[in-house]
Amino acid sequence: MSAIRYELIKTCKQSGARLGKIYTPHGVIDTPIFMPVGTQATVKSMTPEELKVMDARIILSNTYHLYMRPGHELIEKAGGLHKFMNWDRAILTDSGGFQVFSLGPLRKIVEEGVHFRSHLDGSKHFISPEKAIEIQNSLGADIIMSFDECAPYPSEYNYVKKSLERTTRWAKRGKEAHKYPEKQALFGIVQGGMYKDLRTQSANELMEIDFPGYSIGGLSVGEPKPIMYDVLEHTTPLLPKDKPRYLMGVGSPDDLIEGVIRGVDMFDCVLPTRIARNGTAMTSQGKVVVRNATYQEDFTPLDPNCNCYTCKNYSRAYIRHLVKANEILASRLITNHNLHFLLNLMHEVRTAIKEDRLLDFKKDFYSKYGL
Ligand code: GUN
Ligand code: ZN
Repeated sequence: MSAIRYELIKTCKQSGARLGKIYTPHGVIDTPIFMPVGTQATVKSMTPEELKVMDARIILSNTYHLYMRPGHELIEKAGGLHKFMNWDRAILTDSGGFQVFSLGPLRKIVEEGVHFRSHLDGSKHFISPEKAIEIQNSLGADIIMSFDECAPYPSEYNYVKKSLERTTRWAKRGKEAHKYPEKQALFGIVQGGMYKDLRTQSANELMEIDFPGYSIGGLSVGEPKPIMYDVLEHTTPLLPKDKPRYLMGVGSPDDLIEGVIRGVDMFDCVLPTRIARNGTAMTSQGKVVVRNATYQEDFTPLDPNCNCYTCKNYSRAYIRHLVKANEILASRLITNHNLHFLLNLMHEVRTAIKEDRLLDFKKDFYSKYGL
């Protein structure tokens, strides 16, 4: 028995988008869903209570970071990641593959796994596909990821082919090493760069191994958006209808909507939390760079159409003042708003799917957002 179950409720007659539910050991997730990122076992500056007010059902954390610090053994001693960080809803951990590959010259890939040096102290480490699963077994997230290689963009066809074939072998080794398939659902990650035949090959090889869900990796890595949408449109129909599909690292409002239209159920991205910390809000009228002088005497909320705690109580002028004065509250208020905005966007997307009008919703959203 798998740890999770996906229920496809309906597809939007206008767009083909999927409305569903994922049942996890830590609650039910309505899909399509956006997952806030909590790399270091915290969604930066937010308490779990605040995340619950915005109805976050699942958050993402990172194997690589938690392995380096404070160490997965410590988190296991604490009773697992849920208990350690006081979050009793669902958690997904990324495998560390992507983070290790982002280290650039600090790493070396071999068949057995990846040699790398710590971004913290330069110490030498080795992560194999088995080790990535062992660490994720200790952390105890509801959904865990296979160890994969995300090929950079652009990459040569022959390199991407070799890389995805190794990712398939790593996925198989990871599945064999996985100790608790009934407690934690292990997803395979489709790679293949921007080459459609390689995406097909990757999807088929992973489906042969059989996973309770499939991620789509290696996108939003610098390619033009039309290419990403085209590769996505090719890839999602290859995947089983009765399993969730997760597009990794994607989270601008337009990419979420385009992803949903192409059959994606789950997304994560650091964008809303990262831009919040440099003073940028995502609003129904587009991005608001609240640091700008334009907002000096603007006593309206970040987003007049938002009912989050930030927008109910604070003005752009006040938040701009906090940003300029480097006050911690600026990060907290804007992060709160940005996450609320994206979670609410996905709520509206789900309602539009239910009512078979997602393309109308998209048109309306884009015209206001300025796309
Ligand atoms: N996050 C964004 N893209 C990727 C990817 O290709 N693989 C993994 N493991 N994580 C990601
Ligand atoms: Zn708001």
